[in-house]
Amino acid sequence: MAERITLLEEKRIVLGVTGSIAAYKAADLASKLVQAGAYVDVIMTEAAQRFVSALTFQAVTGRPVYTDMWRTGMDGSLPTHIAHIGLAEGAHLLVIAPATAHHMAKLAAGMADDLLCVTALGVRCPIIIAPAMDGDMYEHPATAENMRRLKDMGAILVEPEIGRMASGMVGRGRLPEVLSLLGTIRQVLGREWGPLTERHIVVTAGGTREALDPVRFVSNRSSGKQGYAVAQAAVDAGASVTLITTTTGLPIPAGVRPVYVESAQEMHEAVLEALEEADALIMAAAVADFRPAEIAEQKIKKTAKTLSVELVRTTDILASVGKRRAETGMPHVIVGFAAETQDLVRNARFKLEKKGVDFIIANDITAEGAGFGGDTNVVTILSADGSVVSLPQQTKIAVAEAIIQRIAARLMTVPRRGE
Ligand code: CTP
Repeated sequence: MAERITLLEEKRIVLGVTGSIAAYKAADLASKLVQAGAYVDVIMTEAAQRFVSALTFQAVTGRPVYTDMWRTGMDGSLPTHIAHIGLAEGAHLLVIAPATAHHMAKLAAGMADDLLCVTALGVRCPIIIAPAMDGDMYEHPATAENMRRLKDMGAILVEPEIGRMASGMVGRGRLPEVLSLLGTIRQVLGREWGPLTERHIVVTAGGTREALDPVRFVSNRSSGKQGYAVAQAAVDAGASVTLITTTTGLPIPAGVRPVYVESAQEMHEAVLEALEEADALIMAAAVADFRPAEIAEQKIKKTAKTLSVELVRTTDILASVGKRRAETGMPHVIVGFAAETQDLVRNARFKLEKKGVDFIIANDITAEGAGFGGDTNVVTILSADGSVVSLPQQTKIAVAEAIIQRIAARLMTVPRRGE
């Protein structure tokens, strides 16, 4: 599903397309970027036009496509390479996808014989290069050397994927899927423009699983969607993100380091370890409050008519981090969630104070459009300074952005590590 992406709104992206069969994927990328809210100017090399027509890109971007460095305007205006120096000047990002071995060689050598090369020499914004070619070409020392030079010059090289190529051979050289490219674009733009650059944020997500025996566990209805949205919003804001997650089946956003856990205890250990270097913790996970007192070594057989399981309390991770902060001052910001079915604000306020956190994101999981599984949420944000803000029903992505904005505002006055 195409979505608006706050970070991409009104960003000017120049998309350079070179002559690879993967050029058709670039049309999809252009389309997704436009739907996300970006302005996309496409430059196609001559070889690229043999695979996909300029009209395709014109149709998806709704803008002219640049193909010829020497063409003058209909009115006899300046040739494209001069008139569109503006392309380079106004760009927030140059993405070259797919990038052929040939074009990377030209770029690495600083050549300027086509519009894409001229533009690459002119931009001051970040450059993402996504190579696509046959496996042998990708592994050739000449290509490797050119990529190393491009990296040394500051370009961000996207590693191609392993898979079947147009030649029918299997190897490394496939252009990554469009959503993965989009993820890299978000990461790079976030770092360039976001308020959380050089910050490290730890997010937890999903419902923990407390084992009963080797095949069964006790868990809850958490889908992990809200936590994953928070992780993505933190990447969009420029942070490096550790996502401590149970199995949710959701894709890990580009730029996020996942740590997979099962139980509350494993999550607790992972949180403590990740917090060593973190500025903020957001506990979006639905952590089990109780776990079976004992885990049966063998599968429990249905020999008896009834089965009673004794449950014991797990450690409250949020409260333990709050307590630790009271002693060490770290992490700077702690955010918890409160899933309630009654007395929302009163219960949430109690949790905020008892656990020693800065914000509680309270949601009435019985409300329409809120809670587990869905794509929307209805939350009230309580802050340790006493403020209570009720947000209208909105997407979990928008809720995530509201949380990240508050964290960014808090961290504004806190020096970064090493500052
Ligand atoms: N939490 C935690 N460790 C636990 C239980 C909860 O860190 N063992 C965190 C959750 O991730 C959430 C917050 O505490 O950010 C509140 O969770 P919630 O289930 O709403 O509240 P509880 O403290 O478990 O209280 P209760 O279940 O009695 O409402």
